[in-house]
Amino acid sequence: MLAVLTIKTMRMKYAKLLFVLLIVLATSCYYDKEEILYPESANCTVPAISTFSGTVLPLLNNRCNNCHAGSSPSGGIALDTHSNVMKYVNDGSLMGSVNFASGYSAMPKNSGKMSACDIQKIQSWIDSGALNN
Ligand code: HEC
Repeated sequence: MLAVLTIKTMRMKYAKLLFVLLIVLATSCYYDKEEILYPESANCTVPAISTFSGTVLPLLNNRCNNCHAGSSPSGGIALDTHSNVMKYVNDGSLMGSVNFASGYSAMPKNSGKMSACDIQKIQSWIDSGALNN
């Protein structure tokens, strides 16, 4: 009788253990997915000095310049050189649009917002003088 009971309790324990294990596995999968979806938000490294050529222009080329470069850039707004970009740094529309701020057209148009980390990198370049570096 006692032996049967012990076996039953052991089965229960195994069942519980399996249950816990399944939850742990399910949760770890969830986190894996989040890291794949948002790789930078999980671990944002803003360089000590964000430069125009090394940091900002590659981000713009990647997310904006399929529309904002070339012979007829969208809205007449070119973001392909330092002097072109400075116009929109100075009037506030660059950061207004990437931050989806009210009063500005949300950019990139018809696409996902830039990651918080990338926005921070551009802001840090502006904060350190928006140099042509
Ligand atoms: C699919 C094309 C497309 C992409 C990609 C795109 N834009 Fe635009 N952008 C436009 C068009 C069209 C306009 C003008 C009409 C409007 O304001 O919606 C515009 C307008 C703007 C303006 C002026 C907004 C204002 O409120 O005055 C800024 C600044 C700008 N874009 C910056 C960016 C930046 C920065 C990115 C990348 C993060 C980007 N755009 C990506 C098409 C695009």
